[in-house]
Amino acid sequence: MKEKILYTSSPQQTQELARRFASLLHGGEIVFLRGPIGAGKTVFVKGVAEALGMKSSPTSASFSLMKRYQKGKHTLYHIDLFRLTEGEVFNLGFEEMLEDETAVILAEWPDPLAQMMPQDRLEMDFVLEGGDKRRIMLRAGGAVSRALAEGLCK
Ligand SMILES: Nc1ncnc2c1ncn2[C@@H]1O[C@H](COP(=O)(O)OP(=O)(O)OP(=O)(O)O)[C@@H](O)[C@H]1O
Ligand SMILES: [Mg+2]
Repeated sequence: MKEKILYTSSPQQTQELARRFASLLHGGEIVFLRGPIGAGKTVFVKGVAEALGMKSSPTSASFSLMKRYQKGKHTLYHIDLFRLTEGEVFNLGFEEMLEDETAVILAEWPDPLAQMMPQDRLEMDFVLEGGDKRRIMLRAGGAVSRALAEGLCK
């Protein structure tokens, strides 16, 4: 699939995008969130969790590598591997998470996980465009993530 591009002009718009994203979830979706510090990755994750009705909301705490949220039929994993390397994430329990095929996984700074994750994942690259504007570039690696990207761009 060709890359798709979206823009948001405020944190609220990124949350609105996250709400739309949440409404498209069936379970089993994997998203790699990329972009510099302060790009809006956690704002997006928060928006998804809130839209799914999850009580405690994700924070940008890079000191917790993985948080699991549960509500109704939805399980959400929020991962943040800022400054970690592939060697360091080995044996931290991510394999177990991957066995949960109906979980939704949203990963910030995901590079250390790339080798162990399925190809069918949505890459969302957040680019700072000046002020509060963000360009969000979507690239899908398979059928599930393609459906997600197409739903988001409708
Ligand atoms: N269009 C926008 N979308 C999202 N956040 C925005 C936008 N414009 C401004 N912001 C602000 O940018 C900041 C984004 O912070 P956030 O914690 O989401 O970044 P992050 O990408 O998770 O960074 P980190 O890599 O440190 O985890 C927030 O303070 C938010 O209010
Ligand atoms: Mg963050």
